[in-house]
Parts: sequence; structure tokens; C-alpha cells
Amino acid sequence: MSHSPIHRAGNGPVKVELTQGETYTWCACGRSASQPWCDGSHQGTGIDPVVFVAERTGGVWLCLCKQTGTPPLCDSSHKKPSP
Ligand code: FES
Repeated sequence: MSHSPIHRAGNGPVKVELTQGETYTWCACGRSASQPWCDGSHQGTGIDPVVFVAERTGGVWLCLCKQTGTPPLCDSSHKKPSP
């Protein structure tokens, strides 16, 4: 199924503090004004956010370029040119 283009929300990851057992919703479309979190702006794009539960409390680097192969975590894909 096709979807609208994915936007880059940044050119590097953002470090966020997570709490073990909490549920988070990572923006996969790049349109959210509340990066890296989904704010519902993906409506109508055909792109869904990534909902995940933190496995531990602490800091993690979340992807903002939205090109990561390991969402929501940064895999250094921001260092590659945009497709
Ligand atoms: S606003 Fe981007 S996935 Fe929801």
C-alpha cells in the first residue's frame, strides 16, 4: 500500500528519557509538531506511528530523520542522503 512521503523532522536523533513499562507513541511520518512523539498529524497519510513500551528506565536516542531501519531507535540512517 502506498502512503504520503515521509518527512525528515531533523538531521540527527534526539535523546529522551523513558520510564520502564510506560507506553510511548513515536512519530513515523515526520509531520508532528511534538517530535519525536506523534501528535495525530499523520491522519490521512497512510502512515501509522510506532507504539512501544519502554523496556527500561533511562535515556535513548530516537530517530528524527524517519529513515531508521530500527524504529523508533536511531540507526545512523540520518548520515545517508535523503532518498
Ligand atoms: S504525527 Fe507522525 S506518525 Fe503521528
